[in-house]
Amino acid sequence: MATNRTFTMLKPDAVENGHIGAILEKITAAGFKIAAMKYTQLSKRDAQQFYAVHNERPFFGELVEFMTRGPIVAAILEKDNAVDDFRALIGATNPEEAAEGTIRKLFATSIGENAVHGSDSDENAAIEGAFHFSGREIF
Ligand code: PPS
Repeated sequence: MATNRTFTMLKPDAVENGHIGAILEKITAAGFKIAAMKYTQLSKRDAQQFYAVHNERPFFGELVEFMTRGPIVAAILEKDNAVDDFRALIGATNPEEAAEGTIRKLFATSIGENAVHGSDSDENAAIEGAFHFSGREIF
């Protein structure tokens, strides 16, 4: 059964390029409520752990370097069908393939620097949310 929460990060490129406000506006306008949010920076160890499932992929080192080079915004978002609806809102991993109007089409610069993360399943949304937030930080 689908749950109503997903996890997102506004990635270092989105922060560096001044897109935090515009992206949060798109997210809330699409009907997502913010259940938890923080401005933080991942350590190398954090990023290696968060993305451990991708550690055999050729871009793993690059992904860890990128995700640790500056602050991010981490958030748990709430809405019916949150995981799938959020993936639709952000668009394809590669911004060149992302649909018009999606967050990655509007704000991402490349497949590596693609502005925003969205959990790919309910199970991962719960794991990723718990990676960043304690129970008392979630409302
Ligand atoms: S997904 O969303 O898991 O289906 O996407 P996937 O293509 O499997 O990519 C997983 C994460 O790796 C990032 N990625 C890359 N980083 C650097 N270089 C290249 N070439 C590259 N390809 C994919 C991608 O942005 C995904 O990160 P998250 O944070 O999950 O969006």
